[in-house]
Amino acid sequence: MRASRYTIFMYGAIIGVPLLMMLTVVGLLENNPYAYTVLPALLGVAASVFAVTGFFETFAHRRYEGSANRLEDGIESSSKVAPRNTGGKIITFVLKRFNNSTKALDSATYKVRATERTTVLGALLEIKDYQDNTISVRCNCRMGVCGSCGMVVNGKPVLACETGALNAAKDEVVEISPMLGHPLLKDMVTDFDDFFERHKSVEPHLYREDTKEKYAAKKEYMQSKEELDKFLPYSYCIMCGLCLDACPVVNSNPNFIGPQALSQTYRYHADSRDQKGKKRLFDVDSMDGVWGCEFSGSCSKACPKGVDPAGAIQLLKGDLMASLPEN
Ligand code: SF4
Ligand code: FES
Repeated sequence: MRASRYTIFMYGAIIGVPLLMMLTVVGLLENNPYAYTVLPALLGVAASVFAVTGFFETFAHRRYEGSANRLEDGIESSSKVAPRNTGGKIITFVLKRFNNSTKALDSATYKVRATERTTVLGALLEIKDYQDNTISVRCNCRMGVCGSCGMVVNGKPVLACETGALNAAKDEVVEISPMLGHPLLKDMVTDFDDFFERHKSVEPHLYREDTKEKYAAKKEYMQSKEELDKFLPYSYCIMCGLCLDACPVVNSNPNFIGPQALSQTYRYHADSRDQKGKKRLFDVDSMDGVWGCEFSGSCSKACPKGVDPAGAIQLLKGDLMASLPEN
């Protein structure tokens, strides 16, 4: 519909304008007022209608084409824009999907044409849109902010929306499985209830002795740059759960509270506005707390936000040691 009106406008302009000029000239030469006033006026109105319609259609058509190109260029699409069929490389995606009858992960293989701009998430959504709509994938922001698209790509826990399909491919194959450090719901979707419980258990908020002050604050709580720097890197956590998935201790001892909750313990402990004091430290002073960490560092390696949970745990250990009474 858009293309045909666009074409009509083009032909209307090419044929209509010379016709209009010709009629006016003939009318003037023949001294025929009907020919050089009424007919050109009617044609003028028709041409104006075509011109206005054509202008909006052309504008809309270009915007439509622009967004279609962006989507085809690999910025993930869940809309029904057909995948590109030229350029890039054909990549084989091997998805590990849980089979409820065998209680094991089965492999399902799909092929997607990927360019340097195609992310693993984009490829998965393309598979879901055009090849197999039974696949379950969780995503929201598609830009490494919401933390919901964590999965294991070629053996590493990563955010699928931040992982380039071509970069991830080994011999043009990308193997994708769910994070197994979290209970599995379906395909790449895992259950985060337990993860959020761990997070909640460390009271991840500023603790103030005067509980009423937030309703009647009398001043701002100023911080120096040094005070800010102490906790700022740990506040970048997006709760994607990759660190928990990467942690060898959580995977062998489910009671270990894990790197994310401990990094948030340090984030609030290091904040000069927090008044929970040593209690925050003592809450994690156990083998299921900081002392369970074996400092493998895999949590910090997996973190897409540079939070460094392993470093935070060592800082908590140091502060705990320093808080012991001297004797
Ligand atoms: S610490 Fe990093 S890896 Fe762990 S949940 Fe937060 S952002 Fe994700
Ligand atoms: S979709 Fe939000 S982090 Fe990937």
